[in-house]
Amino acid sequence: MLRKIGVIGGGNIGGVLVQEIVRRRLAREVGLVDPAPFVNPNDPEDRQATTRKQTIAGGKCLDIAEGTPVLRSDVLCYGSKDYSAIKDAELIINTAGVPRKARPDGTFPSREELLTINLKVTNQVAAGISEQCPDATVISIANPLDAIVYTLDKRLNPSKNKLMGMAGVLDSARYCYFVAEAANVSVENVNAMVLGGHGDSMVPVRSSCLIAGIPVEKFIDAEKLAAIETRTRKAGGEVVGLLGIGSAFASPAWCALEMAEAIIFDKRKIIPVSAKLEGEYGFEGVFVGVPAIVGANGVEEIIELDLTDHEREAFGKSVAAVRNTCNSVEEMLANL
Ligand code: LAC
Repeated sequence: MLRKIGVIGGGNIGGVLVQEIVRRRLAREVGLVDPAPFVNPNDPEDRQATTRKQTIAGGKCLDIAEGTPVLRSDVLCYGSKDYSAIKDAELIINTAGVPRKARPDGTFPSREELLTINLKVTNQVAAGISEQCPDATVISIANPLDAIVYTLDKRLNPSKNKLMGMAGVLDSARYCYFVAEAANVSVENVNAMVLGGHGDSMVPVRSSCLIAGIPVEKFIDAEKLAAIETRTRKAGGEVVGLLGIGSAFASPAWCALEMAEAIIFDKRKIIPVSAKLEGEYGFEGVFVGVPAIVGANGVEEIIELDLTDHEREAFGKSVAAVRNTCNSVEEMLANL
């Protein structure tokens, strides 16, 4: 159990995170920050005064705190509009930013299209972390995932092990779920990893996909596997299209907690995380999904897989796509 976990962003993912941290008793305290609802300067003064007193983070946390006697959980849970709620947190989970949302015609933006708005939010997130808990280990979930982690790295300059993005756990869980469904076996039997950036170019690594330790090809034919891998790459969008009002939130929160628990319980678990490459896989200075040993020190070690030629090529293309978004980050940060 940690002394304190801070959650940034009180939307759907943030809400599930706080509930689960309380239910699983992962820390003595959990603090949630979200600046909403925002005061509209065009509103009449009495409306502005009402909005000033409202706090989504405070409301969500009070709701959860009032349920703790039923859960028999003594985790303290509180929220605020300013960053004081995350003061002295040892672990931060960052969810701040707008999610993808279906347009009236049913189409939806790419994660990369969220960059302009979420970059500004991330600047505030970095300032809040620097002020309240500069030594915290940070897991970031906001999109576009790898570019936002890159931005946090630029702003916070932490040691390499203390900053990581959550994407590979979710993309891999989706891959495993579709494989289990197609093979008609328990999800507990399926192991697989999805690497690269958290975008349409992500790389489901078929050579890592095993059912009870047996290569997946023994159970599912190549054509069906290719369809599953295509569905995996677009799985976030599939949920966005169905929901209509936002993007996936339960599974992303659980996947971030898979990483958090590896850190909290010093599991040294091998999981795919968006980590900074410094020569690994032949790349430098880019955050992208790779398998890593995650333990008390965060990213303890990046594991270099023996990818097939086809997988290596796909991984390179994915890194190039992430780099492209990071170049936009550089331009935007210069103009902020
Ligand atoms: C997804 C979002 C959270 O993949 O990136 O659902």
